Amino acid sequence: MRDYDIGFLGGGQLARMSIQAAQRMGLRCLSLDPDPDSPASQVADAITGALEDPDRLVEVFTMCDRVTLENEFISATAIREARVRAGRHASDLTPSSETLGIINDKLRQRKALDRAGIPAPKAIELSDPARALTEILLPMVIKSRFGGYDGKGTRTIRSMQELEASRSLWESGGWLAEEYVPFSRELAVMVYRDAFGRSGTFPTMETVQTDHVCDLVFPAGVDASEIAVQAVEAVEGHGLFGVELFELADGTFQVNEIAPRPHNTGHYSLDWGSVSQFEQHVRLVMGWECARPNGQAACMANLLGQPGATNHRKGVEAALRAVDGAHVHWYGKAESRPGRKMGHINVVGADCVERAKLARTAFYRAWTGQA
Ligand SMILES: Nc1ncnc2c1ncn2[C@@H]1O[C@H](COP(=O)(O)OP(=O)(O)O)[C@@H](O)[C@H]1O
Ligand SMILES: [Mg+2]
Repeated sequence: MRDYDIGFLGGGQLARMSIQAAQRMGLRCLSLDPDPDSPASQVADAITGALEDPDRLVEVFTMCDRVTLENEFISATAIREARVRAGRHASDLTPSSETLGIINDKLRQRKALDRAGIPAPKAIELSDPARALTEILLPMVIKSRFGGYDGKGTRTIRSMQELEASRSLWESGGWLAEEYVPFSRELAVMVYRDAFGRSGTFPTMETVQTDHVCDLVFPAGVDASEIAVQAVEAVEGHGLFGVELFELADGTFQVNEIAPRPHNTGHYSLDWGSVSQFEQHVRLVMGWECARPNGQAACMANLLGQPGATNHRKGVEAALRAVDGAHVHWYGKAESRPGRKMGHINVVGADCVERAKLARTAFYRAWTGQA
């Protein structure tokens, strides 16, 4: 037996909440992150080091029975090489480095969906603007193929002039151009698929973004599980995945992107009374049987960094006072920047959307000293 059951590459809030679920089941966890005071390091042992440092990756593979990750920005090749150097089997890593390699690159991801016949915006590499304008038309969306999150690395382009004005972003390569989708809503589905190919989903959620950051998540009242599972199958994914989708005015769906890990849009499941996405993730990483998700309607409101915010405890207290039954989750990030995901509030049951918004307003007022 090794020192730890599960090693997490990355020590942010997703690792922290997964570790908390693992610890409840008696598992020992380790995380690797460059920040010595990362959210995960506050709840379990941690190694401080760069996620791309091959020696640190090997260390995690050597010390832990199973390894998983909490972001898709670490090179899939570096992870595979570390696993091989540590003499570990492919099944000790969830998800696989093959799946990660496809998801790491938004263009490869689009091509995999396209080959599987899954509706998704048409995308091409952005190198020649004339070709982009003929093949994709305007408006279009340009995206960094690697490393984008919370809308960083995504721009909507409405004219030739705008495309030219953005040249400094894409001219050295690594960007794609894709069709603009005039969606009516954005949705998300958490998909799980075990090593034996058994799969299932959490409910389809509507996700509301403000300034490209997910703001509110609540039940969508439609079922996009079929296309979400197909998307995960298209990247041969095993483990837990967040699938982001567009719903069009005619009720059809397109896949936007796949995240190979727990996802912000699944946080409501911490309090909905059934298995949480984090427990499901742990079960998948351990090779254990999955639970069937079946909880109450729930709404999640993100808590984003606010200008002038000081002591979060005042916010927590105010939210709990404002809404009976509100659940506040705080990630323990050392630095609060405006727009950064600092925590979230879950509210379950009748009127959960209105009550979650109310709790968040009370939180923000107290946190920024307005109450
Ligand atoms: N093809 C598209 N058409 C219209 N809007 C898009 C398109 N692609 C992305 N967006 C918008 O930009 C947001 C961020 O894009 P996304 O590809 O999800 O990047 P990120 O990795 O930053 O989440 C999406 O949630 C959606 O609101
Ligand atoms: Mg996204």
